[in-house]
Amino acid sequence: SESLVEHSKRRAAFAAVDKHVDSSVRVLGVGSGSTVVYAAERLLELKKQNKLHPQLVCVPTSFQSKQLIVESGLTAVDLDDLPELDPGSNSFASIDVTIDGADEVDSELNAIKGGGGAHLREKLVANASKKLVLIADYRKDSSVLGEKWTKGVPVEVSPLAWRTIKRQLERLAPESRAQTSAAGSSTTAHAFEFAHPVAELRQAVRKAGPVVTDNGNFILDVSLGRIHDPPTVEHLLKMIPGVIEVGIFSKMASEAWFGNENGSINCRL
Ligand code: A5P
Repeated sequence: SESLVEHSKRRAAFAAVDKHVDSSVRVLGVGSGSTVVYAAERLLELKKQNKLHPQLVCVPTSFQSKQLIVESGLTAVDLDDLPELDPGSNSFASIDVTIDGADEVDSELNAIKGGGGAHLREKLVANASKKLVLIADYRKDSSVLGEKWTKGVPVEVSPLAWRTIKRQLERLAPESRAQTSAAGSSTTAHAFEFAHPVAELRQAVRKAGPVVTDNGNFILDVSLGRIHDPPTVEHLLKMIPGVIEVGIFSKMASEAWFGNENGSINCRL
């Protein structure tokens, strides 16, 4: 039922915030979507209990995310206004930890994101974070991407060439790659399942016409079937001129919290 899903989102969000956000966290990335609303709810509680860093700043990943931050009485800052956390080190990270939702997470913590159209800024913020923690309900807990999220991979594209990009996406081949088994025999595997991908321009709901992202771009939802090799597919899509960002997050997350159907929670590392 709906309330079971909402309950599982809240449990996952609260557990992730409680694990990762204490008074030592100075810069926090705040994701987008309906699950992150519960994370913001928990942040507000912690703030009231004086359990947050007094100078905590939050980096939004969308218009909605900035609203959540402001409405929780927290301070929003732009990613590029932050200094590096450890200048001179190997890491260019400016964010201690980011908590974000996902549309699907596989057994290796690869994720599909962008169901809410926010994946460009979500990926920029994730990439600048020491840790990316995903929060989700049981419907998104998957072994292979594309198995549960069947609306396609969200791809943000330039409106200047969306038709050309759509045609190019629909000509992508599943890309055989050689695999050598332990026994030495060689087989081929496909990076994704569908021989004939379909890319659909995402349509707005209460307006005739396409969804326009926070960044003024369009979204093509690309149905590829099951994605067996997320990093390869992420690169294939990203190499097309005019593709601004791809909603596949390969190996970016360090953990994912799921609210289970039976009310329990589990953390995938
Ligand atoms: C936004 O573009 C997405 O990446 C969201 O993070 C994702 O859709 C999760 O949203 P829900 O928590 O509402 O499912």
